[in-house]
Amino acid sequence: MTGPVLLVQLSDLHIGGNENGVDPVPRLEAVIEAVRALPNRPDAVLVSGDLTDDGAEANYRVAREMLARLGAPLHVLPGNHDDRGRIRAAFDLPGERDEPVDYSVGVGELRLVIFDSNVPGRDPGSYDAERLAWLDRELSAQPSQPAILALHHPPLATGIAEWDAINLERGDREALGEVVARHPQLRAIVGGHLHRIAASTLSGCPVLAAPSTYLQVRPNYRRDEIDWVDPPGFAIHVWAGGELASQIQAVPLLA
Ligand SMILES: [Fe+2]
Ligand SMILES: [Fe+2]
Repeated sequence: MTGPVLLVQLSDLHIGGNENGVDPVPRLEAVIEAVRALPNRPDAVLVSGDLTDDGAEANYRVAREMLARLGAPLHVLPGNHDDRGRIRAAFDLPGERDEPVDYSVGVGELRLVIFDSNVPGRDPGSYDAERLAWLDRELSAQPSQPAILALHHPPLATGIAEWDAINLERGDREALGEVVARHPQLRAIVGGHLHRIAASTLSGCPVLAAPSTYLQVRPNYRRDEIDWVDPPGFAIHVWAGGELASQIQAVPLLA
């Protein structure tokens, strides 16, 4: 009997960041050690954007060297803080220069479809009709293989005004939802960006925002300010017996 397929998801590393004077590197180290300490080795690791705070080449080198310690295939996509050309070069991602980072890979029985949600130079995500047509074609190519769609901006509304203003707008979510509705093999849509664990649905498909390995956001639905709190964490998407369950692991900080 084969064991479950484990897809670990790390998000929003923000190497080079200094929010509230907090260094992201020791936090990523703690997360990497927590993944390495799992009794089961992950089949692959998804890194769902904002690997660096500023898109600097040196910070991609740090991220790449640290993530290599996981000893698992890495599937990387950019966030709004990333530079497409540099992240592509650092992780040898498909495509050319500053094109969107869109590709699919197999992870055990699963198909992982990476779909770049960024608009260079802007914090909110968006998709135009041409990009959505790519996704439609990509999902049509393997209609019977269970799939996870991964992007940076999760298609959900948090009710935190400041956050929703830099995520996918309702029109973008609806347009994406029309494509999702045509592909029932999609078992989950997973993103990051929010620095907060959040779950919803899009056209009946589960949507999950994974926590940041750096800082989380305190829930505050009254003010437009963002408070940074909470320990880092990561997600594990587990495919077992034809079912998918996404699980979150917090990583307590010792110091
Ligand atoms: Fe982020
Ligand atoms: Fe982001």
